[in-house]
Amino acid sequence: MAEIKRVAVLGCGLMGSGIAEISARAGYETWVREVSEEVARKGKSNIEKSLGRAVDKGKLAAEERDRTVNNIKTTTELEALNDCDIIIEAVTEDLQLKNEMFAILDKVCPPHTIFASNTSSLTIAEMAAATQRPDRVVGLHFFNPVPVMKLVEVVRTIATSNETFQRAYDFARSLGKDPIEAKDASGFVVNRLLVPYMLDAIRCLEQGLATTEDIDKAMVLGTGYPMGPFTLCDFVGIDTLYRISEIMFEEFRETRFAPPPLLKRMVSMGYFGRKTKRGFYDYSGEQPKPTQLGV
Ligand code: 3HC
Repeated sequence: MAEIKRVAVLGCGLMGSGIAEISARAGYETWVREVSEEVARKGKSNIEKSLGRAVDKGKLAAEERDRTVNNIKTTTELEALNDCDIIIEAVTEDLQLKNEMFAILDKVCPPHTIFASNTSSLTIAEMAAATQRPDRVVGLHFFNPVPVMKLVEVVRTIATSNETFQRAYDFARSLGKDPIEAKDASGFVVNRLLVPYMLDAIRCLEQGLATTEDIDKAMVLGTGYPMGPFTLCDFVGIDTLYRISEIMFEEFRETRFAPPPLLKRMVSMGYFGRKTKRGFYDYSGEQPKPTQLGV
């Protein structure tokens, strides 16, 4: 089995930057590909900030931070990733975009390069089919915040070879994660269960069952969840949740995956959650306050 030495991450947003951070920390030369130099610089600077916080908390030695930062290279060219051993895409949930990138990479990368997707809700087979190497395409689904959450779902399609699956699984372990194997069904294990839960919480709010804060409090104090469902929706991103639910609804045609109207209204208004400082809560002050949503 070819050893993994060089890793590439496509996209340096919330998930991509986290994946690049842990990959570089694990000692891999890690290439981050973004659409422009400016976005790539911003992504790298977010990783540096995250590493800086770890140093401040005494969880990471300054030398290790410097070594990690040195392991991260940025590029805007997909062709520059032609000697990477594994490429993990973490771009927006747009199948066409992902497939266009994989089609280019398929031409420039050597046969042993594994293509992995961090998709939350698309099926891996849809991407594998767009390449000439469907046996070397897997899912590697990480969780936010990537440096903290121990799980990775390693997803095999009907075409993934055992060798590719094993290499991807071992790679996830080498990043300090505790992976599970999942079949290639939209949402895999976690989002199959988590997305209907978050959507149901929104439906409860729409129906006036209780307030935003009380529903959150109920799930934290009553079931020991680290965050209530609305805090979690804001954390994941309202726009991301909307996109995921649309894809899952399209796949299963089950109403439990259908986006509630309130979710759609919030996306239209740009209430994307923490990243825009407003979602189910308003984050502009010192303490988050529930947003007036007219429900
Ligand atoms: N990067 C690195 N480390 C972070 C971090 C980040 N973004 N956010 C928090 N941490 C670390 C802190 O440094 C702290 O570490 P320490 O205990 O060693 O000091 C630890 O995490 C706990 O952080 P805090 O004390 O600040 O805060 P909490 O105790 O409230 O924990 C949390 C924060 C870990 C985010 C916790 O609230 C949690 O587990 N929430 C649920 C997250 C979750 O469900 N994620 C999955 C979302 S679904 C998903 O990603 C799939 C996608 O497809 C939608």
